[in-house]
Amino acid sequence: MNGPLVVFGCGGHGKVVADAAKAAGYRVLGFVDHDARRLGSSVFGLTVLATGVDGALDVCRAERAELVVAVGDNRNRAKIFAELVARQAPLTTVVHPRSVIAESAQIGTGTVVFAGVVVNPDAVIGANVILNTGTTVDHDNWLGDHAHLSPGVHLGGCVRVGAGTHLGVGVSVRNNITIGSWSVVGVGAAVVKHLPDHVVAYGTPAVAVGSTPALL
Ligand SMILES: CC(C)(COP(=O)(O)OP(=O)(O)OC[C@H]1O[C@@H](n2cnc3c(N)ncnc32)[C@H](O)[C@@H]1OP(=O)(O)O)[C@@H](O)C(=O)NCCC(=O)NCCS
Repeated sequence: MNGPLVVFGCGGHGKVVADAAKAAGYRVLGFVDHDARRLGSSVFGLTVLATGVDGALDVCRAERAELVVAVGDNRNRAKIFAELVARQAPLTTVVHPRSVIAESAQIGTGTVVFAGVVVNPDAVIGANVILNTGTTVDHDNWLGDHAHLSPGVHLGGCVRVGAGTHLGVGVSVRNNITIGSWSVVGVGAAVVKHLPDHVVAYGTPAVAVGSTPALL
């Protein structure tokens, strides 16, 4: 049994995080959101209790609750996470009980793991990562902070995915491939060659078709 939890972000991704947290035995107190217009509203049967980082910290302090960031966009999630880390927020991970995580795998703070995920031995998952529904992360994979593996992504062994990179729904990655940081790989791609930082790529085989903006 886990303790009280507040979920930062009340969009679609927030609902799934709250659902996984409930299944994992957390007492989900409600949401915090950046949008003040949502304050007091009900989402997924839970109340939006506060807004912004200050609001999140106040609720956590008052309720002795832990906090998880549930913002889908990688850049926004990274920014909020960094601010919360700097303010020593009580960040935690949420792992759905119907996922399978190898004993030797490592999962960073603030990472969320949804139903049907499999993480195999010696995989290292960074902080603030999303392992979305039904994704598989094979042996010796390394995923940087703030990455997002969408539903149904499958990684072969020894794959590396850089910080902040988003793999779209159903992406498959051949073993021993490295994908750089802050890149986006489109829905359904098959990645069979390395991809650098800051590219948009898709297709089978995946090729870079554009670039993502530099980090500010
Ligand atoms: C790759 C991606 C980022 C491109 O987005 P975009 O820049 O807005 O691209 P557009 O939708 O304007 O499409 C531009 C062209 O690329 C093609 N295209 C887009 N994504 C593609 C993909 N995954 N595979 C093949 N072609 C793709 C479109 O068909 C279109 O072709 P056209 O110019 O011949 O009509 C986006 O399509 C994608 O796959 N995002 C991931 C979404 C996801 O998995 N979300 C998970 C939420 S949990």
